[in-house]
Amino acid sequence: MGNISRRRVLSLGAVLGLAGVASAPEAWAWSSRGSLAGTDAVTDPFQVWDPEPDEVAARLLADGVIPAVNTAWRSWVDNADPLPAGMPGYLTSYLQQVNRLPSWADATALAASERYYKRLASYLFVSQSLGSGIMSTVIPREARAVYWSAGGADMKERAAKTFTFGYDLNSETAWQPTGHFVVTANKTRLVHSVVRNLLPTSPRFMETSDQPKPISNGDILRTFHSVATYAHSNLLKWGIRLSAAEQEADLHAWQVALHLLGVRREFIPATWADALTQAEHMLWPNLGPTTEGTSLAETLLGYITQPTLGLATGFVHEFVRYLLGDEMCDWLGLRRDWAQAALIKVEWPLYVAFREGTSGVFPGSGYLFDQALRGIAMLYLNNGTSATQTPVTLPAANRPG
Ligand code: HEM
Repeated sequence: MGNISRRRVLSLGAVLGLAGVASAPEAWAWSSRGSLAGTDAVTDPFQVWDPEPDEVAARLLADGVIPAVNTAWRSWVDNADPLPAGMPGYLTSYLQQVNRLPSWADATALAASERYYKRLASYLFVSQSLGSGIMSTVIPREARAVYWSAGGADMKERAAKTFTFGYDLNSETAWQPTGHFVVTANKTRLVHSVVRNLLPTSPRFMETSDQPKPISNGDILRTFHSVATYAHSNLLKWGIRLSAAEQEADLHAWQVALHLLGVRREFIPATWADALTQAEHMLWPNLGPTTEGTSLAETLLGYITQPTLGLATGFVHEFVRYLLGDEMCDWLGLRRDWAQAALIKVEWPLYVAFREGTSGVFPGSGYLFDQALRGIAMLYLNNGTSATQTPVTLPAANRPG
């Protein structure tokens, strides 16, 4: 009941044009028995942040060295790269401690995740870009944080940078010395720490914030569910063959990723069943529209439907609706295109069945799905401008204005 009333409050807020309606916090009830730590305790992850890198980030901002660090970081890309010169000693010392896998990381499972992601890349891509990417705009805290941070002013670049994380995690060399993921995750953790220092100084962000600072452990887990738990459910729903070992490898890669992002073991789900239960507590009941999120969605969808990609607005909007359902898409005001809706409903399952080898018939609109996958990949991977990935950099200020 509490969840439904929170949604109603948010929807009413949107109708009234209120950007962000704070609601009374609900008691956290998920036991850490279902976590990697396995201890039976109830600690609220929304009250836990990441003190050590937050302190480092505060010093970087106070010392005015963010641009210098971004320059130094350019040569720090591969997991095996030495930490770059040109950074303050306190940043180097911090990174020396965290730029490694945790003792509980399972090398065999991580190697299995590389093979799994290679096999399923295009499905994950659909789920992450058109599904999770747009879902992030109806996660109120995330939408507001993204909108009011520096990157919110240039969503094309911001989406490309964020995509770097998924691309590096889903790469077939993610965890190897030549892979990038451990570095990208460490950079991302520090970006979040800088944001935790910057956003509380933004009057526009704080006007509607319901936390002293953004991006708690709970918020990171919520995003994890909107990406990974959601993708896991989609693959099963679409009838993709997944062995138990592949499912475990997928979860394990994310468990290590969450650790690298600063989430405590007592909050990281131990199994997919635990993850699904946790998502019921922290993701699905907490979605809703905000002025900021609706604006971000419009911008993101605008890039995807731009003429150069050749994807019709109706097709893209209905594909998003197919993935996310009516409620979220109605919040975002996506217009209906019934013909495209009918086509996607019939032909996406046929397309998946053809690709999975369970049907010999390539559907009439199969080329549209191919084109959508290729076009969106190009857009996000190279930001539409260059042939390389967009490196993750630390912001030095909030969104202007
Ligand atoms: C930045 C990934 C959770 C807010 C980033 C970046 C990545 C990333 C790769 C750096 C690239 C960029 O600047 O866009 C992730 C992942 C998450 C997560 C994998 C969880 C699994 C969150 C949450 C919030 C958030 C929960 C807010 C509630 C931000 C903001 C930035 C950022 C505001 C900075 C954008 C800027 O430069 O202005 N995130 N994020 N993130 N993230 Fe996250």
